[in-house]
Amino acid sequence: MARDYVSYAEGLNTKKSWSLYERASKVMPGGASSHGQCYPVFDPYPLTFEKGRGSHIWDADGNEYIDFILSMGPCILGHCHPTLMKAAADQLKKGTAFAVLNENEVKLAELVCKIVPNAEMVRFSNSGAEATMSAIRFARAYTGKTKIIKFEGAYHGAYDQVMVGFGGVQPVGPAMARVNTPVSWGVPEEVLSTVIQLPWNDLSVVEKTLKRRSHEIAAIITEPVLMNIGTVLPEEGYLNGLQELCHKYDVVFILDEVISGFRLALGGAQEYFNLRPDLATYAKALGAGFPISAITGKREIMENVVPGKMMHSGTYNANPLVVTAALASLTELSRNNGAIYKHLNKIGTMLMEGLQDAVDETKTKGMVQGIGSGGCQLYFTDRKKISNYKDFFSTDSTKYMKFHKQLLKRGVYFHPQQYEHLFVCTAHTEKDVDTAVSSAREVLKQLA
Ligand SMILES: Cc1ncc(COP(=O)(O)O)c(C=O)c1O
Repeated sequence: MARDYVSYAEGLNTKKSWSLYERASKVMPGGASSHGQCYPVFDPYPLTFEKGRGSHIWDADGNEYIDFILSMGPCILGHCHPTLMKAAADQLKKGTAFAVLNENEVKLAELVCKIVPNAEMVRFSNSGAEATMSAIRFARAYTGKTKIIKFEGAYHGAYDQVMVGFGGVQPVGPAMARVNTPVSWGVPEEVLSTVIQLPWNDLSVVEKTLKRRSHEIAAIITEPVLMNIGTVLPEEGYLNGLQELCHKYDVVFILDEVISGFRLALGGAQEYFNLRPDLATYAKALGAGFPISAITGKREIMENVVPGKMMHSGTYNANPLVVTAALASLTELSRNNGAIYKHLNKIGTMLMEGLQDAVDETKTKGMVQGIGSGGCQLYFTDRKKISNYKDFFSTDSTKYMKFHKQLLKRGVYFHPQQYEHLFVCTAHTEKDVDTAVSSAREVLKQLA
């Protein structure tokens, strides 16, 4: 049904975004190719972006923004990084898909095994979801057990086995007795029953569960920092505690580094928090904007990923285009012993501290949580700290949407949803952050 044009954010010309969405809605359910890219995530319709350079992006109507979303994390080198573009362009001339081993794939595997602490072996695929899905299968095959523990508020991709209880539903009841809810129509009951959901940042509840049920639990899967409900940091010793419990109860420890990998540090959260998970998964910053993911792990598990044992397959897995891009991205990130991370850390910390100052100066009910190069999030809440999914329910998402729209009008792109996360890239400058912070201050004053 045709609707009249309304600006995405009053005063901003977004006519072309609107008309593309009208057309898209006629031929694509929800007018998009991913739930994260359609209404009501973006209200009343998604913006359409046309071009990116460095830390800036332009929408279809020609409005320019400083980008703190970076395609939901991947573009750690900013948009159109020249080294990455040249490597990809050179490969384009040679071919993009042969579906067999290629030289850059071998070089990339060697580099990943050098950089990632637990990587005795690695397999590549295309998306974060494929990587976590395969890691869960490997854990099940290795242990001969079926169930997995996942944490409330964590996201590991859009497939049945993990689409449980993360869909705007507040966890109720005691942690050990919560009922799993499907996030989508079509998730079989049988699959729901393979997932044990626990609150994050509480080791005692994990230990109690393992004591009773470790005989049926194949794996614990966790993000090292929950970055799909803003930025929720682990309590001191929590991640190491999880790792120890996994060893004690013969459960595979899967660290989902799809966001944190090659971002918190060159060696990701494993390096940052000194962890050695049995398996780990990577995607976003690995390809820096190209679709590639990886599963790394201990040889004892990974050497079983061969025909007749653990299945892992895909036509586009490690195609020459994406491995060439990932090789260029990791080479760039590794330059001068990872000096780039100093800049990322500085920019990320400036953004976090600047936003917190803006919150304090305007006496806004809110606070900012973050982790250097990992980025941050501003929460509208009375709480002093968000430690888990339940805490996250105290936050005001309607206010965040208003905040996002007012920032857009000032040329600053934050995501419309508070459960997302603010990312920084190597192309961000101090000036970019100053602009974002002073714009945030103005908007917070207005919203007060
Ligand atoms: C921690 C984490 N794991 C897995 C995924 C799934 O990755 P993809 O969207 O590439 O399938 C995401 C996506 O945002 C994620 O944040």
